[in-house]
Amino acid sequence: MKFHIRTYGCQMNKRDSESVSSLLQRHGWTHSVEDDADLVLVNTCSVRGKAEDKALGKLGLMVASKRTHENRIVGVIGCMVQRRKDQLFEKVPGLDFAVGTHRLSAIPAIVDCVQAGQGPVLDADEEGGFSEELCGHEEGGISAFVNILFGCDRRCAYCIVPSVRGGEWSRPAAGIISEVTSLAAAGVKEVTLLGQSVTLYGRKNSVWPDDHHSEAGFKDPLPRLLEAVNNIDGISRVRFTSGHPEGCSDELVGAMAVLPAVCEHLHLPFQSGSDRILKAMRRGYTSDGYSDVVARLRSAMPGIALTTDVIVGFPGETQEDFQKTSSFMREIGFDNAFIFKYSPRPGTPAADWNDDVPDDEKQRRNHVLLADQDVTGLAINEKLIGHDVEVLVEGESLRNSDRWSGRTRTNKIVVFPPREGVERGNVASVRIERAMAQTIYGTVV
Ligand code: SAH
Ligand code: SF4
Ligand code: F3S
Repeated sequence: MKFHIRTYGCQMNKRDSESVSSLLQRHGWTHSVEDDADLVLVNTCSVRGKAEDKALGKLGLMVASKRTHENRIVGVIGCMVQRRKDQLFEKVPGLDFAVGTHRLSAIPAIVDCVQAGQGPVLDADEEGGFSEELCGHEEGGISAFVNILFGCDRRCAYCIVPSVRGGEWSRPAAGIISEVTSLAAAGVKEVTLLGQSVTLYGRKNSVWPDDHHSEAGFKDPLPRLLEAVNNIDGISRVRFTSGHPEGCSDELVGAMAVLPAVCEHLHLPFQSGSDRILKAMRRGYTSDGYSDVVARLRSAMPGIALTTDVIVGFPGETQEDFQKTSSFMREIGFDNAFIFKYSPRPGTPAADWNDDVPDDEKQRRNHVLLADQDVTGLAINEKLIGHDVEVLVEGESLRNSDRWSGRTRTNKIVVFPPREGVERGNVASVRIERAMAQTIYGTVV
């Protein structure tokens, strides 16, 4: 029997889909293209209304495809199940099952029930959580995601994530280290440690045994974890995402700077440049506080790349607030930025406030920031022209199979002509010849 998973949403969802894929394969299923699949899973995101609409549209199409694919089973998993629960069966008649974010390991058994004619099934329990069964990875990867922190306790006023992913819980370091060690043995060179506000790893629950000793004398849980992962044979790059200014201690910044495998890149969402809006968002920092973190990161790692997320059109965001966001972005000079139009999420505090920025104005603000970011990103990348950068080779470029691509330590995509002796998983030195805002081009030297 064959299965296919379509994934929406963030890296957590991508990672969950990979875990589920590996779990199903251990239960005798084979991965296939969508058209051949007997089982189609749609892994959903609830972060903005649009994300939900896309997933619902896809689910509708998949259920309709049951007419031409006899015995096909269609299931929905992920964040939307946690939010909409049994409403999903009304929205998408013909759906076979819905499994929430805490219950992924139950999927094979639920599929068995559905096959036995016991559907539809809903499992959106909040008990369950992480299990070793969910540590599987795709084979043959160069780069892998590893979960280190689940859920979120920050409760930003606009955000649905805490209610669909549950309370903050950090995974004990031992399990992470053994997962990365097996990945390294299987040929993985780069790991990205995942969590919402991952810089707070180990804050809520203890993750290290009392007798653990950090060679560099680190005291905080994340620096100690970075040190341990840095020391695993075969791992040449370590990243972690997403950052929150609150966890960016001097020790963490210092660890990033001294540990050779830890890359000079941080995704650090700032959301707004207006202190009034940051306060209403309940982000827990001011624009000055954020700038201070950036200054400390840059003084320890002058070449560090910073990427970010911004929300435009939050309730009450005036032209003046928006101007502050726009000038803040220019001041910091981000390597890349994801700009989102505010979308009210039912049940969050901000959903009760007047969504008073009209959609066309949100659209305009979105365009202004995107255009600015293109200029900034291009200027930063153009400075690399003539320089040699270290690239982890990923293989054929997605757009053009005559070209190869890889990433720099700063997470920039580099495209270059293939070269004999340069293979997937190698670290190559590439001389940059041309730059665009999102991609740089060069030749292996
Ligand atoms: N934990 C991460 C963010 C996860 S959600 C952090 O705090 O940095 C990813 C991004 O989606 C957020 O950074 C935010 O910019 C955006 N986002 C979240 N909720 C949103 C909403 N209701 N409307 C628009 N954008 C939203
Ligand atoms: Fe959402 Fe804020 Fe948690 Fe990020 S830190 S997931 S934006 S509540
Ligand atoms: Fe990620 Fe979307 Fe869920 S951003 S945590 S997939 S709501």
